[in-house]
Amino acid sequence: MLLPRTLLCLAQAWLVLADTQLVLNQLQTFSATTSPLTYSLPASSDPVSVSVALCSYQKSTTPRFFVSNGSVTTPGPDDLGEGDVFEIELDDYSLGSVTVQVASAGVLAVYNAADMSFEVGVSDEGPLHQVLDEVPLFSDSTANQVLMFSPPFSPSNMSSPSYPNYTLPAANQTFPPEPTSPPDYSLFIAATTSSAFMTLPRTGCAFRGSASNVGQFLTSSRSEGLWLRDTDGWRWQWFVNGLVPMTNYTAYAVKNESQVAGPVYFATKSPAFACPIVYGIPFCPSIGYAAPVGNNDPGTGVSAGELPSAFTENLLSGLSNFTTMLTTIACGRDLYSPLVTCADCQAAYRNWLCIVSLPRCAEYASPTSSSTTAASSTSTMLGQGAQEPLITPTPALAMQNASNPRNPSLPPFAENYTAVLPCLEVCHAADRACPPFLGFQCPLPQYTAGQSYGVGFVDTGEEGVVGGGLTGAGTDQWGNVWCNGPGVV
Ligand SMILES: *[C@@H]1O[C@H](CO)[C@@H](O)[C@H](O)[C@H]1NC(C)=O
Ligand SMILES: *[C@@H]1O[C@H](CO)[C@@H](O)[C@H](O)[C@H]1NC(C)=O
Ligand SMILES: *[C@@H]1O[C@H](CO)[C@@H](O)[C@H](O)[C@H]1NC(C)=O
Ligand SMILES: *[C@@H]1O[C@H](CO)[C@@H](O)[C@H](O)[C@H]1NC(C)=O
Ligand SMILES: *[C@@H]1O[C@H](CO)[C@@H](O)[C@H](O)[C@H]1NC(C)=O
Ligand SMILES: *[C@@H]1O[C@H](CO)[C@@H](O)[C@H](O)[C@H]1NC(C)=O
Ligand SMILES: *[C@@H]1O[C@H](CO)[C@@H](O)[C@H](O)[C@H]1NC(C)=O
Ligand SMILES: *[C@@H]1O[C@H](CO)[C@@H](O)[C@H](O)[C@H]1NC(C)=O
Ligand SMILES: *[C@@H]1O[C@H](CO)[C@@H](O)[C@H](O)[C@H]1NC(C)=O
Repeated sequence: MLLPRTLLCLAQAWLVLADTQLVLNQLQTFSATTSPLTYSLPASSDPVSVSVALCSYQKSTTPRFFVSNGSVTTPGPDDLGEGDVFEIELDDYSLGSVTVQVASAGVLAVYNAADMSFEVGVSDEGPLHQVLDEVPLFSDSTANQVLMFSPPFSPSNMSSPSYPNYTLPAANQTFPPEPTSPPDYSLFIAATTSSAFMTLPRTGCAFRGSASNVGQFLTSSRSEGLWLRDTDGWRWQWFVNGLVPMTNYTAYAVKNESQVAGPVYFATKSPAFACPIVYGIPFCPSIGYAAPVGNNDPGTGVSAGELPSAFTENLLSGLSNFTTMLTTIACGRDLYSPLVTCADCQAAYRNWLCIVSLPRCAEYASPTSSSTTAASSTSTMLGQGAQEPLITPTPALAMQNASNPRNPSLPPFAENYTAVLPCLEVCHAADRACPPFLGFQCPLPQYTAGQSYGVGFVDTGEEGVVGGGLTGAGTDQWGNVWCNGPGVV
């Protein structure tokens, strides 16, 4: 009995004395007890990025990380400027990295990290810990649900049709095959002002660690798989239940456990908000918003099978008729534009038809008139503005009479609701992409457009002028929705 125990003690002593060896291209988590602690870097013929992320919050000490790739065996503050000693500075997210050449030996030394845990990654393919340029996409919220998407990661592989066999997607289209090895993404959502969240490092390991022990944290409870929302490419789609009404939330998506995308902000709506989120419609892939459609199960949104059949039939019939008309020209042979094709026209028309056919419900404190064009007045946006944007123009709202639906192929909704109108640019996109003989026309900004569209948000609203609108987009990263259409700038 004595011998094995002695061996165990010896083994432990050896582990404490020798530097822990870091492994290339692998995340490793540590908790430091003494300061400094040192770790050996793996040698590599390529430069390696040494990155660290804090996994827990420590209010009394500021940990510091130093890397040596020269003769200094315990690099510290006094060795900086010696040439082969570098400090890893942590950013606002509490992560950071340096890239060095480790020919023979390298050391990572950690100071002041007592009783906190941190994650280290050494990689020859760029820093494992980093903040991504792209952000997740907030699609829409109800009182206690949200629909979100990861950043796009894989462009769709739909081959464009060509003459003489120019076949456009069917009205009830199917997606091309999904990417076979999509990147791993997790979604983290927290109440913006929860104190546990406010002090938490914005890192993958901190989010993962807190998801189980801080009540306000929710990982994706129900990922709906991959979705091809638009030409940006495939994304992960999340439909999350269990949020608290009228609460500001912050969301991050974490790629491959350590790369952070975000934040984006959004707010949940009041308990009186009655419209469910409609999403997952292959023939209207860009739709993912609250709409005046009844549903039986409040825990789910409304997907293709639950849409009223009159609505679906009418939309698909309109799209088929349009496609038939479009293909009366020899698509792919008789070019009507050097820039756009019949396939672009059909896609833009599909997007327009879907958005104008299915009104988007909104919730605002005090919509002033039955319809508005963008004006630089400020108004309180209840359930939308999670964070003050630079400008707060009044969104394009229209009060809707429940018994008198905007689209006659939708049955009356149970409640009156406020609609946020489609952006005029959704119409202009179809106008620009389609051959003139089809006679597709948008209302003029200075006359009637404001009755059915949001005007002046994305583009100025002056005829023929692209860009220069008040907000530059229909929606933004802070959860504001001014008109229904083109997303985040
Ligand atoms: C994810 O990260 C691990 C290291 O933690 C790496 O080995 C792997 O290649 C990464 N996967 C992708 C798809 O980037
Ligand atoms: C340490 O890394 C830096 C940056 O890559 C490099 O310039 C330097 O030559 C390296 N030092 C040694 C001793 O390899
Ligand atoms: C035309 O293309 C479609 C889809 O790309 C294909 O299913 C069909 O077999 C093709 N027809 C001919 C005659 O090549
Ligand atoms: C559309 O296509 C899907 C799958 O191909 C099918 O299940 C669905 O019934 C179709 N919908 C309509 C309205 O034809
Ligand atoms: C996309 O298409 C190319 C060639 O057609 C193919 O090599 C590639 O594997 C495809 N990618 C996906 C994600 O399907
Ligand atoms: C499509 O065309 C058919 C036949 O002309 C017509 O009966 C139907 O009403 C049209 N659909 C729509 C939505 O206009
Ligand atoms: C959400 O954030 C907005 C803007 O910062 C603020 O006006 C509003 O009071 C917040 N709402 C809640 C419920 O905290
Ligand atoms: C709402 O629509 C119903 C049915 O069309 C109509 O009788 C009623 O007057 C409308 N109410 C308002 C306030 O417009
Ligand atoms: C909708 O509003 C109209 C006019 O304000 C009102 O007469 C009607 O009762 C309301 N309907 C519902 C379902 O609340």
